[in-house]
Amino acid sequence: MNTKIMKIDGRSLELADKIIKSGGVVGMPTETVYGLGANAFDTGAVEKIFRIKGRPNDNPLIVHIHKDYDISTLVSDVPDYAAALQKAFLPGPLTMVYKSRGVVSKSVSCGLDTLAIRIPSHEGAQKFLKYVNLPIAAPSANISKHVSPTSAEHVFNDLNGKIELILDGGKCTGGIESTVLDCTGEIPVVLRSGLITREMIARTVGECGEYVYKDGARALSPGMKYKHYSPNCRTVMFANSEAGKAIELYSKERANGVRAYILCDDATAVKTAVEDIINLGKTETEIAENLYSALREGEEKAELIIAIAPEKQDGVMVGVMNRLSKACS
Ligand code: TXA
Ligand code: MG
Repeated sequence: MNTKIMKIDGRSLELADKIIKSGGVVGMPTETVYGLGANAFDTGAVEKIFRIKGRPNDNPLIVHIHKDYDISTLVSDVPDYAAALQKAFLPGPLTMVYKSRGVVSKSVSCGLDTLAIRIPSHEGAQKFLKYVNLPIAAPSANISKHVSPTSAEHVFNDLNGKIELILDGGKCTGGIESTVLDCTGEIPVVLRSGLITREMIARTVGECGEYVYKDGARALSPGMKYKHYSPNCRTVMFANSEAGKAIELYSKERANGVRAYILCDDATAVKTAVEDIINLGKTETEIAENLYSALREGEEKAELIIAIAPEKQDGVMVGVMNRLSKACS
């Protein structure tokens, strides 16, 4: 199969619609990362997603809908705080988990009685979702465990020959996956951190919990227990306060002829002044936006990525650190 990359226009939307309605999958942009989408009502199509990615079959998928889709047809028991959060943050990088009405394929939620719903703000994603007018189940469009894709080229590099079409909506500006928020309890609980932070949610509705996964426990959000975001080269990570040790290791490896690169934010790059740097950028939004392309750049040119954690650790950096430490574990 030849994988086509097409800009989003009348012609590509028509083809995407044809593929989706005949039970196929399509690479699609969102503001966070690219997704691998299929009709959520079609079990055969949803199962293709798991097969193509090599995704464990107990890790549920998020359903994507356009902004005028009636979510009450898919889920029930939407609490008041969730309605307030929808108003404040959607469309946007916030996925909300509700009690499912059980109308989409059971394979989407891997047998859970809940359903994760996301309304992406990306203009191209909205056009695609509106065109097909179906709930689209979509995980990130990478091979399972690999770094998430933030451009159509990234998707192509992982899935060339395995899917027919990638809708090209340019580079993702968000850069890390959406915040996943459990909305089935008394208060909202962050299951996966992202660009909509726990603080932002708490400021809007008064309270917000955070679920911390402990190894071996029954995961509330099953994705948490899996290895993720890994570049195909050796990686190691140091705390910001241990930047000196990172530089020492870098010098030693370079002296031994190893292509080692330091991956760090701009402030640390300036301080360390080493030659082989992969720079994540200055602000927290820049760092989030660049994270996955930096890890992919790293695996292309480095034998060893030596990551130094950014100094700032709160807000959006909670989500960045979660990915970076998993990528380098
Ligand atoms: O930004 C994003 O969320 C991207 C784009 C494509 O929308 N999608 C994405 O999907 O990151 P994925 O499959 O890579 O991650 C989905 C996460 C997993 O951690 C999964 O366990 C969790 O959402 N999840 C899905 N359904 C759930 C449910 N019913 N209850 C709890 N967690 C759920
Ligand atoms: Mg993923």
